[in-house]
Amino acid sequence: MSSCRIDYQAAPDLLRDRVILVTGAGDGIGKVAAMSFARHGATVVLLGRTTSKLEKVYDEILAEGAPKPAIIPLNLEGATLKDYHDMAEALDKEFGRLDGILHNASLLGRITPFVQYNPELWEQVMQVNINGPIWMTQALIPVLEKSADASVVFTSSSVGRKGRAYWGAYSVSKFATEGFVELLADELEHLGTVRVNSLNPGGTRTAMRKSAYPGEDPLLLRTPEDIMPTYLWLMGPDSQGHSGEKFDAQPPKPSSGA
Ligand SMILES: NC(=O)c1ccc[n+]([C@@H]2O[C@H](COP(=O)([O-])OP(=O)(O)OC[C@H]3O[C@@H](n4cnc5c(N)ncnc54)[C@H](OP(=O)(O)O)[C@@H]3O)[C@@H](O)[C@H]2O)c1
Repeated sequence: MSSCRIDYQAAPDLLRDRVILVTGAGDGIGKVAAMSFARHGATVVLLGRTTSKLEKVYDEILAEGAPKPAIIPLNLEGATLKDYHDMAEALDKEFGRLDGILHNASLLGRITPFVQYNPELWEQVMQVNINGPIWMTQALIPVLEKSADASVVFTSSSVGRKGRAYWGAYSVSKFATEGFVELLADELEHLGTVRVNSLNPGGTRTAMRKSAYPGEDPLLLRTPEDIMPTYLWLMGPDSQGHSGEKFDAQPPKPSSGA
């Protein structure tokens, strides 16, 4: 069976009564995913490093008449274990459970030969793309366990499944993401209520893609809106029983990257 659900038709109330955290929710794919989850009935928790962007998404969600979201301003680069535990406590207090996490925030770093890769930048990319999401997940597991049907989705990339020259820390962070998904899915299997999967959006029209491929015509790329079916499928009950798997949000293209 294909790992892509681009033709999935989500029921309008697919995510009703679900509480879903989206990281990097202020822009790009994360913004559109948060809006799309809210439109399908979810209460979304918008996490990101630029509060003004999160507030804009918050206002847009309210203007559409979707459930009132929440905002967590947090920069994954400097976030501490205490921040993650405080966040878990606040979510538990406010909602009593968490039904989904879309780990979406990422840094591209630089596309450059490895011999020239700046070690500080390498650490920064690993912090935002893998270490932060791992410790955030550890803090949130008890809140996820309170859900009857929780879905944790980690965002991967084509270069996290096949190494590619010059993609440096970004590629390594996405390989680590794939490994962590397998490990965590296996570890949580006994619960039967928390599934963990990886999702590769494929080349998508966003600021990150533009900085990776400045010469590319963005109009040739799918938009974040176009790739939402697989995101919705993974967050909702139709993906129950799938865990530890790799999904693609669009059929692979020869030059899909970022
Ligand atoms: N677009 C593609 O073609 C493509 C392909 C494969 C995989 N992906 C993956 O898809 C995901 C979304 O990518 P995108 O293209 O939508 O990227 P994007 O347009 O650059 O958006 C990334 C989001 O992450 C947030 N973010 C970055 N660093 C952060 C930090 N330190 N703390 C908190 N939030 C932070 C950004 O916040 P600010 O807005 O405040 O900067 C932004 O909202 C990423 O995981 C990326 O690796 C994208």
